[in-house]
Amino acid sequence: MGAASHHRPIRSFVRREGRLTSGQARALEQQWPHYGTDARGLRDPAALFARQAPITLEIGFGDGDNLLAQAKAHPDRNFIGLEVHRPGVGRLLAGAAEAGIDNLKLADLDAAELLRDTIPPQSLNAIYVLFPDPWHKARHHKRRLVQEPFLDDVARVIQPGGLLRLATDWEDYAEHMQAVCGAHPAWQGADVPTDDGAPVDRIQTKFERRGLRLGHGVWDFAYIRV
Ligand SMILES: C[S@@+](CC[C@H](N)C(=O)[O-])C[C@H]1O[C@@H](n2cnc3c(N)ncnc32)[C@H](O)[C@@H]1O
Repeated sequence: MGAASHHRPIRSFVRREGRLTSGQARALEQQWPHYGTDARGLRDPAALFARQAPITLEIGFGDGDNLLAQAKAHPDRNFIGLEVHRPGVGRLLAGAAEAGIDNLKLADLDAAELLRDTIPPQSLNAIYVLFPDPWHKARHHKRRLVQEPFLDDVARVIQPGGLLRLATDWEDYAEHMQAVCGAHPAWQGADVPTDDGAPVDRIQTKFERRGLRLGHGVWDFAYIRV
């Protein structure tokens, strides 16, 4: 065994297979051919869709309710979702098929790896990372997705003027996001579109509700690719 094989990448997730409901399992089997893609497909994101349109990527979409809502609300855009938790993928596939939407593609792969190695420069128009795993213990902070190398990769794949949207319910992660994004030369802070204090470009997510139940605050950030 060579030395290189001892190197294990630091991942932002632990793969938990979880239990699939019968509906999720059925959706994975029946709908994956239509909505699913693999790393090869993500080498040319525009070619995944029949019609050319700006592409929004949501990373770690969880149960997929926000991504489904956005894909329905913006038929003039294309959407890609990346999520390693298969029950969430199954749930979103079922919802997408039921709604009959045609502007969505999904992959059950590590977003950090795809951004680094696969997705081509300037191929995406907006990237959403909503309530990423907080990894709140200090010794786990290195697993947090939003770090300088991630921001470098996102800056490469996004088009000039494109949007990076972040949200978290963990105050120290919010401070960290603000610090690393604020210090990064590719990103300029922008206003989050709100109505009555609530963001209008996303719905309330499952993990946001969980955070609110625990008495957490919610921090939303928007950055534009300069
Ligand atoms: C805390 S949950 C938030 C889910 C959802 N966005 C919400 O707000 O309810 C974070 C999700 O990100 C996914 N995730 C973490 N790292 C990922 C990665 N590198 N690639 C794809 N998904 C990832 C996890 O599987 C998990 O479902």
